[in-house]
Amino acid sequence: MSQQPIKFAYWVPNVSGGLVVSKIEQRTHWDIDYNRKLAQIAERSGFEYALSQIRFTAGYGADNQHESVTISHALLAATETLKVIAAILPGPWTPALAAKQLATIDQFTQGRVAVNIVSGWFKGEFRAIGEPWLDHDERYRRSEEFIRALKGIWTQDNFSFQGDFYRFHNYSLKPKPLQRPHPEIFQGGSSRAARDMASRVSDWYFTNGNSVEGIKAQVDDIRTKAAANGHSVKVGVNAFIIARETEAEARAVLDEIIAKADPQAIQGFGSEAKNAGASSPEGEGNWAQSSFEDLVQYNDGFKTNLIGTPQQIAERIVALKAVGVDLILSGFLHFQEEVEYFGKQVLPLVRELEQARVEAPALA
Ligand SMILES: Cc1cc2nc3c(=O)[nH]c(=O)nc-3n(C[C@H](O)[C@H](O)[C@H](O)COP(=O)(O)O)c2cc1C
Repeated sequence: MSQQPIKFAYWVPNVSGGLVVSKIEQRTHWDIDYNRKLAQIAERSGFEYALSQIRFTAGYGADNQHESVTISHALLAATETLKVIAAILPGPWTPALAAKQLATIDQFTQGRVAVNIVSGWFKGEFRAIGEPWLDHDERYRRSEEFIRALKGIWTQDNFSFQGDFYRFHNYSLKPKPLQRPHPEIFQGGSSRAARDMASRVSDWYFTNGNSVEGIKAQVDDIRTKAAANGHSVKVGVNAFIIARETEAEARAVLDEIIAKADPQAIQGFGSEAKNAGASSPEGEGNWAQSSFEDLVQYNDGFKTNLIGTPQQIAERIVALKAVGVDLILSGFLHFQEEVEYFGKQVLPLVRELEQARVEAPALA
């Protein structure tokens, strides 16, 4: 097990409707004031990263959406240590634009920006904004070129690149980002193509929520392939966290979220997502196995089962760490209050359990 403390990120609620497709009351808001305060609470509560979302149209009831790079910069400007991961979609973005925007933000924020390269799953959205829709594995081939180009622009002068999707000729970006060798590059996805790309070029692989066994299979596959490629990649797992004083209370919240799920929005999202999940040649992408209940949290966050008392959650987090997970990406029902509760009640227990495993490595 890694000796590094496991890291925590939270989803920036920059789209309306929170992180669950449910009519349950959510004391979470997508506006900038709420998000600035949340970012400040999160960095005080032990969160190292925030991940903003890129969405151009409603997809699961998220009727309003603030743009990802813009809100990431606003949150960086309102914080001191938090790293904010801006989501970028190849297609609408070119690597030249992304490299330039993010280098500027990195300069303005003492080197705290990171990027999540999103390969895309939502065909209706691409159609709405007039972007061509590529086949599943072609999307990843384009994303890989995008990442190679980003790295080249950020680390070299007179950068030249001849790809199928992107070309550069003696390009020197000035100024370069502050972070060396470059801002961290995350990616999302669970399919074989996603894992293969991670094992070649990404710094971080983000995956949907899953059981410990499901995560272990992905981690083992990625780490084996990455080692063969002479690359190393860290892994982040999504989880919708419901921490309450008793397990019964936490389960009751989950039951209410599901009972008040919005079937129409989930059906619409579910058919797009299932289509995306099944569209990889192996049919094993994100959402390929998701049930109606799973889809109520749109990145399968209930499956990770961080639902219960602080002690139960801390134990499950350390079990994920033991199979090679480096970061928990968390969503909450009432973000500001629950991020604070997590920092006070759950995180110290995680650190105690990690310490116990360091002192008794046989248990690790
Ligand atoms: C943690 C995480 C964050 C993601 N963020 C976004 C996002 O902001 N916008 C978006 O359109 N897709 C997002 N995705 C979708 C992925 O980039 C990818 O297109 C999708 O998971 C399908 O990949 P797969 O077929 O390889 O499983 C995210 C996925 C994960 C796991």
